[in-house]
Amino acid sequence: MVDNFTIAQAMTIKVDARLPAMPAFQPGIRRAPSRGFTLTQAQTEIALKNALRYVPEEHHPLLADEFLTELLTYGRIYAYRYRPQGRIYGKPVHDYQGSCLEGKAFQVMIDNNLDFDVALYPYELTTYGETGQVCQNWLQYLLIKKYLDAMTQYQTLVVESGHPLGLFPSKPDAPRVIITNALMVGMFDNQADWEIAEQMGVANYGQMTAGGWMYIGPQGIVHGTFNTLLTAGRQRLGIAGDGDLRGKLFVSSGLGGMSGAQSKAMEIANGVGVIAEVDFSRIKTRLDQGWITTFSPDLAEVFKLAAIHQHKGEPISIAYHGNIVDLLEYAVKNNVPIDLLSDQTSCHVAYSGGYCPQGITFEERTALLASDRAEFTALVDKSLRRHFELIRMLVARGVYFFDYGNSFMKAVYDSGVREISKNGIDEKEGFIFPSYVEDIMGPELFDYGYGPFRWVCLSGKEEDLIKTDQAALSCIDPDRRGQDRDNYIWIKDAQKNKLVVGTKARILYQDAEGRQSIALKFNAMVRMGEIGPVMLGRDHHDTGGTDSPFRETANIKDGSNVMADMATQCFAGNAARGMSLVALHNGGGVGIGKAINGGFGLVLDGSERVDAVIKSAMLWDVMGGVARRSWARNANSIATCAEFNKNYAGQGHITLPYLPAEKLVKDLVGQAFRNLGQ
Ligand SMILES: NC(=O)c1ccc[n+]([C@@H]2O[C@H](COP(=O)([O-])OP(=O)(O)OC[C@H]3O[C@@H](n4cnc5c(N)ncnc54)[C@H](O)[C@@H]3O)[C@@H](O)[C@H]2O)c1
Repeated sequence: MVDNFTIAQAMTIKVDARLPAMPAFQPGIRRAPSRGFTLTQAQTEIALKNALRYVPEEHHPLLADEFLTELLTYGRIYAYRYRPQGRIYGKPVHDYQGSCLEGKAFQVMIDNNLDFDVALYPYELTTYGETGQVCQNWLQYLLIKKYLDAMTQYQTLVVESGHPLGLFPSKPDAPRVIITNALMVGMFDNQADWEIAEQMGVANYGQMTAGGWMYIGPQGIVHGTFNTLLTAGRQRLGIAGDGDLRGKLFVSSGLGGMSGAQSKAMEIANGVGVIAEVDFSRIKTRLDQGWITTFSPDLAEVFKLAAIHQHKGEPISIAYHGNIVDLLEYAVKNNVPIDLLSDQTSCHVAYSGGYCPQGITFEERTALLASDRAEFTALVDKSLRRHFELIRMLVARGVYFFDYGNSFMKAVYDSGVREISKNGIDEKEGFIFPSYVEDIMGPELFDYGYGPFRWVCLSGKEEDLIKTDQAALSCIDPDRRGQDRDNYIWIKDAQKNKLVVGTKARILYQDAEGRQSIALKFNAMVRMGEIGPVMLGRDHHDTGGTDSPFRETANIKDGSNVMADMATQCFAGNAARGMSLVALHNGGGVGIGKAINGGFGLVLDGSERVDAVIKSAMLWDVMGGVARRSWARNANSIATCAEFNKNYAGQGHITLPYLPAEKLVKDLVGQAFRNLGQ
């Protein structure tokens, strides 16, 4: 049997042998609730051994005790002792050590994901979405950073569910980092087995850009939310193509990681937003950032203020400090004229703390989670059932409700409400209310290839961000399509709207051609020394990045919405074409087993090598998704792919579907089933 001395000698990249002092926890920083401890004795032993494999044997007696206490208390081993002291944040790229630019650039991205100002629970490595983590624990964080320091252009770092497996010989035009998170074998791909794997320290919930290291704060979702609300207004409220949401009232919940974008997006769209939030610390964060105008725990006051601004046609975003279900009780009772209604509590992890039930405060929810999970679960179910009833009453009065990609309808279904499913039996055919992708974002954006393209100016300089905004603006023709006009206005006003939280980043929905031309322009600017290096990426929540039947692929109607081929191909294709980082995850924004999603990062260093990557990978990343949507017979995608076949003749070609007459199929199948006696 090999001994620990030999093992230590056999590694040059490893966690330091020195035992760090336990760092102090800064007061006022949000902390994750207990995730619950449910392991058996045998599993607990393995979990402990798993955590101890990162550290030299001499520390095992002390750390075994410490890690076991963490596991029993929090349901996780975070290895708090190994968290570096003080604030972590994305510094200018050249402040990092590293043997290649990518190695430094990814450290900027990781540290930004853990910034006190950006992350939801920074001490628990959770960036957003209640459980979305960069990696599982601080030992992994330290080791990943050591590998990124050492990595050269001839190596690729492999990260499996937060664990840095190692650096492997590679080549400059291969990815520098390949990440997978929470990919479980089919028969174990469910919440219960997942929770065991996570407690045992072999699985990480990367959500999307948390574990994919591409989060840019709530700005990342503001543009998509702005597009969604505007498009919903145009579709359902009769607003003109060039109009905005002046005088309209949007009600929702959540001012957290991504949900915090709702208030800002509504204000940018010139409308009135009322957002319920149970956790005052999140209201405070959004107030300090200027992303909400005011707050109140008094619903009469909230809706009076909303009505005044609706009447004057002036924008305002108001946080209601309280439960969304209480707000809806009030709205139903007092006939509040809501125009658009949604929900953005973390229902994808409703029973782990993502949804605060009606009747208890946020603080009581945190205590109950630790003391009595069965009681907590029962309260969540009761609250979700009431939540559903109230929405149904409002919808009957003409309010447009849509699910906002947070698994709300699935959570209601799981709470025992069968009526929310379309077929009244199971959830396989979807739900009675529309989801924002199914009705809005899918047909109007994803089907054309418009998605959440983003970049980070790695120099950390404001002037670089201003220059990139202007360069991106010059690449958009506002007269091409309505979407281009919206995007043009978005980027023109981006500085004014003060969207940056954390690194100097920007979100801009773009289609394949737009992303490619902006990327080439930025890379040329880096080459000319006009700006420092840039990290390009996107949310996984995109045209081709995510297979998720109730969200990103909710408007895929050929039966293939249950398949995960697209996201997997997208990931593999991006790796083959040399993106700097590729990531593939299970779960994402909707929960384990419900989505496969992936993303990328591309470091623009000004080289011609990177120009070549942009030309092949950027187009593939988007058009692979549009091609699949087209094959599912989505009209806007078919048109986009036909255009691609014309514009890229000789370079690329997409198979298009022939469309049979509906009547032919209906009549023939109807006859066949009559013959079968059904
Ligand atoms: N809109 C989008 O485009 C989009 C994209 C991705 C994900 N999502 C989904 O949206 C959800 C929210 O994401 P997040 O990052 O903001 O999560 P988060 O956990 O940071 O924020 C959710 C917020 O809801 C609050 N909350 C919970 N129950 C409440 C209740 N009953 N009443 C009022 N407030 C309540 C919480 O205190 C929290 O601040 C997730 O399920 C996520 O997957 C949305």
